[in-house]
Amino acid sequence: MANKIILDCDPGHDDAIALILAHGNPEIELVAVTTVHGNQTIEKVTRNALAVARIAGITGVPFAAGAHRPLVRTAEVAESIHGESGLDGPALPPPSFDADPRHAVDLIIDTILASPPGTITLVPTGALTNIALAVRKEPRIASLVKEVVLMGGGYHGGNWSAAAEFNIVIDPEAAHIVFNESWKLTMVGLDVTHQALATPDVVAAIAAVGTAPARFVVELLDFFGRTYRDAQGFEHPPVHDPCAVALVIDPSVMTVVKVPLNVELTGTLTLGMTVADFRSTPADGCTTHAATNLDHAKFWALIVDALTRIGEPPQ
Ligand code: BDR
Ligand code: CA
Repeated sequence: MANKIILDCDPGHDDAIALILAHGNPEIELVAVTTVHGNQTIEKVTRNALAVARIAGITGVPFAAGAHRPLVRTAEVAESIHGESGLDGPALPPPSFDADPRHAVDLIIDTILASPPGTITLVPTGALTNIALAVRKEPRIASLVKEVVLMGGGYHGGNWSAAAEFNIVIDPEAAHIVFNESWKLTMVGLDVTHQALATPDVVAAIAAVGTAPARFVVELLDFFGRTYRDAQGFEHPPVHDPCAVALVIDPSVMTVVKVPLNVELTGTLTLGMTVADFRSTPADGCTTHAATNLDHAKFWALIVDALTRIGEPPQ
């Protein structure tokens, strides 16, 4: 049976590829897509999510816009990486359907309550604002979801500050709520996603699929590669968000260890740091996990396979 997921995202170049992977892989059933402020404003990332839906031929899945700002702090966007639109590079078509009228938080709650317990996996690939609000509004979801598999954080350092990763540090209070809930949580952080590099052979394999969605991904990677080179000094861009989806599809694509995790809220230099305590065997009640090592070839094969299955969707 396919894994039912809610993808909570802020497209975003790598979020767009996460959406395409989730749609194109038969092990995943995408039951809802929700958007959150982050890489750009909520209006822009929602428009981008709907554009990706059209390009990839995603239909019959509700998309809903969520939080426009963090719980406590001022909103911050990642224009240096994702551009003015949040998805700069390829031309974006107008959406072929409207967003669901519900707030993302309500769509998340409604979807979980309407599903058999233990069947929905939350896959956040942006700030954790919607997820934190959802579990505060309806605490029962903590025991009803199967698990949370998120892209964010890292135990070896950050990318938005020396110690913190973007998705966590832009709303650290929300992350603190989500990391301290009782659900099973896996952090797919920079430790792993910095191994998910879109090397030239990977881009060539995607281009060889030869379809419009594959060309779209190549154009995304071209822009993303340039900004990652200019803003962060990477030779090839790390494609973070699909790593979380890949782990849900195939646990053998990365190594995961159980480890106590928490989010720093008070450090002046370490705000938003995801602190992993590797000192001893985790206590029985520990529900947090960290991904550590990626099978690069297996990961990119999943992306190429998803694009091949998606083919040329009717526009
Ligand atoms: C994360 O930050 C965002 O810019 C990306 O979409 C990804 O989710 C990486 O730090
Ligand atoms: Ca993202």
